[in-house]
Amino acid sequence: MTSATVAPPVIGGGFTRVEGPLKVTGRARYAADRTFPGMLHAVPVCATVGNGRIRRIDTDVAQGMPGVHKVYTRENIGHFHRLHEAVAKLDEYRPPFEDDVIRYYGQYVALVVAETLEQAMAAAAAVRVSYEAQPPNVEITLAPDDEPGIDTERGDAPGEFARAAIKIDHTYGTPPETHNPIELHATVALYDGHTFTLYECSQGIVNHRTALAAMLGVPPEQVRVVTEHVGSGFGSKLWPWTQSPLAAAAARDLGRPIKLVVSRRMMFHNTGHRGNTQQRMRLSATPEGKLTSLQHDYLFHVAMEEYHKEFCGEATGFLYSTPNLRVTYGSARRNVAPTTSMRGPGAVPGLFAVESAMDELAVELGMDPVELRLRNEPERDEADNVPFSSRHLRECLLAGAERFGWTRRDPRVGAMRRGGLVLGWGMAACSWPARRLKAEASVELRADGTARVASATQDIGTGTYTVMAQMAASALSLPLEKVDAALGDTALPPGPTSGGSMATGSLVPAVLAAARDAARQAVDCALRAGLPAFRGWAPDALRVGGGRVHAADRPPSSGVPIGEVLRAAGCDSVTGHGKGDASEDDGSFKRYSTHSFGAHFVEVTWEPALARLRLARVVTVIDGGKIINARTARNQIEGAIVMGLGMGMLEETSYDARNGAPINNNLADYIVATHADAPEIDVHFLDYPDTVINELGARGVGEIGLAGVAAAITSAVYHATGVRVRDLPVKIEDLLASEVRA
Ligand code: MOS
Repeated sequence: MTSATVAPPVIGGGFTRVEGPLKVTGRARYAADRTFPGMLHAVPVCATVGNGRIRRIDTDVAQGMPGVHKVYTRENIGHFHRLHEAVAKLDEYRPPFEDDVIRYYGQYVALVVAETLEQAMAAAAAVRVSYEAQPPNVEITLAPDDEPGIDTERGDAPGEFARAAIKIDHTYGTPPETHNPIELHATVALYDGHTFTLYECSQGIVNHRTALAAMLGVPPEQVRVVTEHVGSGFGSKLWPWTQSPLAAAAARDLGRPIKLVVSRRMMFHNTGHRGNTQQRMRLSATPEGKLTSLQHDYLFHVAMEEYHKEFCGEATGFLYSTPNLRVTYGSARRNVAPTTSMRGPGAVPGLFAVESAMDELAVELGMDPVELRLRNEPERDEADNVPFSSRHLRECLLAGAERFGWTRRDPRVGAMRRGGLVLGWGMAACSWPARRLKAEASVELRADGTARVASATQDIGTGTYTVMAQMAASALSLPLEKVDAALGDTALPPGPTSGGSMATGSLVPAVLAAARDAARQAVDCALRAGLPAFRGWAPDALRVGGGRVHAADRPPSSGVPIGEVLRAAGCDSVTGHGKGDASEDDGSFKRYSTHSFGAHFVEVTWEPALARLRLARVVTVIDGGKIINARTARNQIEGAIVMGLGMGMLEETSYDARNGAPINNNLADYIVATHADAPEIDVHFLDYPDTVINELGARGVGEIGLAGVAAAITSAVYHATGVRVRDLPVKIEDLLASEVRA
């Protein structure tokens, strides 16, 4: 048997992406890159009202236009089965064209299929739809539709707050935000009379297959989903959207491959967004800065038909120690498209409110905000009354302060200068849950001394190909270049969804078990082949490493090459299989509080004369368990910080009150941060293995990098300008009230 001794050169180092050369040479195939002989193009027709009913759809003109094969509406698309959430996950359970009710602007009402994209677009524009329209409700200010629910509660927070002398009570808001991955959503659907092959940009191909099979009314074995590369998802590609069943239905009906690319404009209403939030925070403390109560009451908007909980209270119950705490949630229905997970769902907007409130409490107390957090560090998770599997927030705060130079901070507003710039320094803590999903993997050892690790997961740009290869190489003591990774195809063993920063941690047990199984089989081959080198040896005394089968107590170089062993045993390769369970299954989920932690320190520069604000510098320290690949992990955190800049200073989806249309539905008007906006970023990992999560101690990183950034920015903005912005994003017009002068 092989030992899974972790070879330091393969785990933890800064390895470049194995698929990097494919990407930089343009050879990596994304869903919309697929073309097939006879392929047709589909373009949806979107509702131009935000609330109402379809009165009539006139397709006559469109039907007669050049190249048009068919125009689909509710009358002729055929039946889609409505999915039960226990079967598979969707964010829009209403199948496309199910009824004639328009619940949000942009809802698909028809689909045109033509020879070329241009013909399909022209014909889609010629489909005439008349509506009975009512004014849509896209009001941003929220009041709950129902009695609020309770996320977590302990002690008597309202009573303590009422009695307290030192307290703050503020409401924070985050706007609707729209995911803008560079890769547009797309489905290329093929149907051969029996099986569907769907080329998708999915963050979860296994769920996608289950969902589409159920909607199309065929067994899952008759659907294959392929996602070789994803140009980011940020949560918008977690679960199938309705373009996928539409494309599949057209492929089945017409017997031709169908390509349906969702336009950037449609991505503002057909592939999800993060709902706006409104969060009231009430905190009280002793003069020494010990929290005596914390109340977090949050609201978020949801679509008319669907419900997605924006779980802003995710981190509130365990982040700080306090005897009295209450977290409640409520939702308000709006004529908006279905909401969904967006990077760091729940905790990211939630921590904007929690960490902003902590900063305001620190100001109220006249206390350093790092010190305030250190004084409220809990011994255990006080919400669930269980120990933390591994929590090093204190060290994140101290190491971050040290790297940033925080002790030089003058806490007075507008007091710090550099050249003609006013400096603002702010900080925030962050956390993100760590969980394992069920996963399977296979590892094939080949006669040429190479190995292939495979799992039906996907690489959404985060480095999954690379870390899978690293894990297998480590378990087999093979050089990384001898291992290739296969993923992105439901024909492989079912792997985890790339969501919640869980893919890496979920793959560890499956890949290690598969590698060990393959090694065991190679050892069996060696014994069965009767090679003289192993005559009389017990299986336990043999290992696989460095491409050889060798005696456990001797170096790999003393062994026999795997190729020779396999040939002698009469086989080309051996394939091992491995499975890993979910955190829920082994009970660790109940016995421990499992989270990653971190701290951000930011510097903004403010030029009062020009009203110019920039994020200049960020230091982030992350406690994300064992880091498998320092380069791809750092890349995740850097990207998340830039996204945090977007959340803090740029991103906001605005609706037209007349028809419910997202007004800024393009990359010129919906502003995302670019390279030119990016600050100087210093990312540091603590690298403490969390073996409750898996044997390597890897929790996975990604979303945590976004959590807290916006609060650190608004705290820094307050420090520079004296203006406290509680509704994101920070706008220049908010800062014109500043009394800080150059
Ligand atoms: Mo993430 S929002 O789970 O893709």
